[in-house]
Amino acid sequence: MKENVVFYFSGTGNSYQVAKDLSGKLADCEVANIADISDSDYNDVDRVGIVFPTYFWGIPNIVKKFLGDLKVSKGTYIYAIATCGGTPGASLDQIDDILKRQDRHLSAGFYVIMPDNYILIYDADLPEKQEEKFKKEKEKLEYIAKVVKVKEQIRFEHSKLFIDHLIGKQLNQLIVKKYPTKDKEFVVSDTCIGCGRCQKACSVKNIKLVEGKPEWQHHCEFCMGCLQSCPKSAINWKNKTQKRKRYYNPNVIHELLLSKENSRSSME
Ligand SMILES: Cc1cc2nc3c(=O)[nH]c(=O)nc-3n(C[C@H](O)[C@H](O)[C@H](O)COP(=O)(O)O)c2cc1C
Ligand code: SF4
Ligand code: SF4
Repeated sequence: MKENVVFYFSGTGNSYQVAKDLSGKLADCEVANIADISDSDYNDVDRVGIVFPTYFWGIPNIVKKFLGDLKVSKGTYIYAIATCGGTPGASLDQIDDILKRQDRHLSAGFYVIMPDNYILIYDADLPEKQEEKFKKEKEKLEYIAKVVKVKEQIRFEHSKLFIDHLIGKQLNQLIVKKYPTKDKEFVVSDTCIGCGRCQKACSVKNIKLVEGKPEWQHHCEFCMGCLQSCPKSAINWKNKTQKRKRYYNPNVIHELLLSKENSRSSME
């Protein structure tokens, strides 16, 4: 039996960093990208962790689907970590709801505040602010690892604000379900040099390069990975992001892009 698997989905590296940092503290631990999983049969694992970014007070579509398909044995310790920019809403409640429909429950759940990548509304945090958040992430992971190691059952962290639950559980469903085709509004400027990095950055293979320029295929997770990773800031969403600074987690950018590229070429 394998002791630990940490699954992650990550658009701009924050959730990947959390998954990697946690795996370094756990014994016999595999780290797996949810976007690369074709067989969700993990019956032979003692502890399963799911790390993902919060999207509109809730969870990304790909995480919803993954959890619905995941096969683990009855006694498996399942925990989740939602990374977020500061308003985690009801993402862990949503995970627990999905598990309850399968007669399981969330054994533990945590929020980790990281630099916000939602460029449609926010500029990137200044480097000092990013460092502050990374420092707190390290502290929080010490605690999370202690809980996970002994398989402690704790009430998952959740917002005390009623509005978060209302938005998280109701509005999130309505908004996030429209994400797959929101890529129709991405625009590419003349500064594009045809380097293909946006294509590599897309975990769900939603970008084709046509004559060196990205074309989106309308099964988008709206993770911002393509827009945020473009070295020429050539990708924008409508006219909303032209003036904003880009953010891609500086601690893992090269490692994560390389791993996405490798996974892409192994499937081709
Ligand atoms: C589409 C979208 C929606 C988001 N919604 C929220 C939100 O409701 N609350 C929040 O705190 N952060 C929100 N964020 C910020 C991310 O959750 C946060 O930056 C996360 O750590 C990014 O993780 P990643 O780098 O692994 O993709 C959103 C980001 C995106 C792209
Ligand atoms: S990453 Fe930017 S510059 Fe490179 S191909 Fe994509 S849009 Fe063009
Ligand atoms: S196309 Fe861009 S925003 Fe959509 S899933 Fe891929 S990287 Fe994320």
